Amino acid sequence: MRRRVIYKFWLSAISLVVLYLLYVVRQRTDQNVQRVTLTEKPRERTEDERLGPTELDNGAKLWRNSIHLSIVVCGDRGNESITLIKSAVLLTKSYIVIHIFAEGELHSSLQNQLNSWPHHITKNFEYHLYRTKYPEPSQEWKLLFKPCASQRLFIPSLLTNVDSLLYVDTDVLFLSPLEKIWSHFSRFNSYQVIAMAPDNEVRHTAWYNRFAKHPYYGELGVNSGVILMNLTRIRASTWLTSIIKYHKEYKSKMTYGDQDLMNIYFHFHPDELYIYPCEWNYRPDHCMYTSVCEGANRDGAHVLHGNRRTMQNQKQRAFKAVYSAFKEYDFQEKLMISFLPMLLRNLEAVAKTPCGKVGHIFSKRVAQFLNQEEK
Ligand SMILES: *[C@@H]1O[C@H](CO)[C@@H](O)[C@H](O)[C@H]1NC(C)=O
Ligand SMILES: *[C@@H]1O[C@H](CO)[C@@H](O)[C@H](O)[C@H]1NC(C)=O
Repeated sequence: MRRRVIYKFWLSAISLVVLYLLYVVRQRTDQNVQRVTLTEKPRERTEDERLGPTELDNGAKLWRNSIHLSIVVCGDRGNESITLIKSAVLLTKSYIVIHIFAEGELHSSLQNQLNSWPHHITKNFEYHLYRTKYPEPSQEWKLLFKPCASQRLFIPSLLTNVDSLLYVDTDVLFLSPLEKIWSHFSRFNSYQVIAMAPDNEVRHTAWYNRFAKHPYYGELGVNSGVILMNLTRIRASTWLTSIIKYHKEYKSKMTYGDQDLMNIYFHFHPDELYIYPCEWNYRPDHCMYTSVCEGANRDGAHVLHGNRRTMQNQKQRAFKAVYSAFKEYDFQEKLMISFLPMLLRNLEAVAKTPCGKVGHIFSKRVAQFLNQEEK
């Protein structure tokens, strides 16, 4: 009798161990399968899935160590944002996590275009598509703001599992790797939460000092097209409540919506703002009269911002020249062989226009980067 009990006991113990081993092996293979599919497909996760990395430690680590880039896409800005993303991934070595807030009807076209890129490009980034949205109570925010224009103000409350990110308008192109702009984070002091560039360099053509009827940052205001945000710090600050308060107080006096709001915020919290110079947000204003951005004159622009539709229209054709070169590049040949010559040709063709006269500003950083790559 006693023997039988012991025998039964051992039998169950052994079965349990065997089952456990089977379970472990199974888990391992699942993980492998997951990892393989991750690297073979362009990585898209919809907003219904959890807004975060996979449960794998590797995923979490990758998430933490990646560069996070965010854009807000509405109306006819779909194609522009694809070219923007292309410029980001072509020059950057680090893994990029891209957070795209877009109107629902644009989702499938964005997906189709990104998913059509070759594997050697898509393996270096993943993207997450969200509908434009608001933090809770969302009805209240919606009544206060227009959907797309103000989305960037709420990113800290929506992407709560992201520490820091680079937000850019869709009319932006990168002429140097994202690691470069990202490295400004390490220069923030302990109070600084956001980095932006001045809205202008010279008093007599600037906007805020001449026309603004509300408080703004510094002498000439700041531009909200290229923003580094430490979301962790913003979430710990009074950002959201202050923004609402300032909106109520100044909305009748504002012209540029959320950019004005950010100017008002940093007027009252100047110690929270890190200013990077104009070559990190280079606009037509910097070259349409005389070339006023010193850093760009010297070494070229890092980030182009073709506001007032200059990536598409004929107003400052140097911007469109760069845009077209990125748009046409088809991932086939090396950048040095096909992209760079095309960029230089496009710029040469507009060398007589005001911004085209300083064409080196639009090509120097790229040429420098590709030359280093060759070595
Ligand atoms: C976007 O690009 C596609 C293909 O390149 C083109 O058919 C479409 O008209 C473009 N859309 C806009 C809004 O420019
Ligand atoms: C953002 O701020 C938090 C809190 O101070 C800090 O731990 C984190 O390293 C910062 N992120 C970056 C990218 O500098």
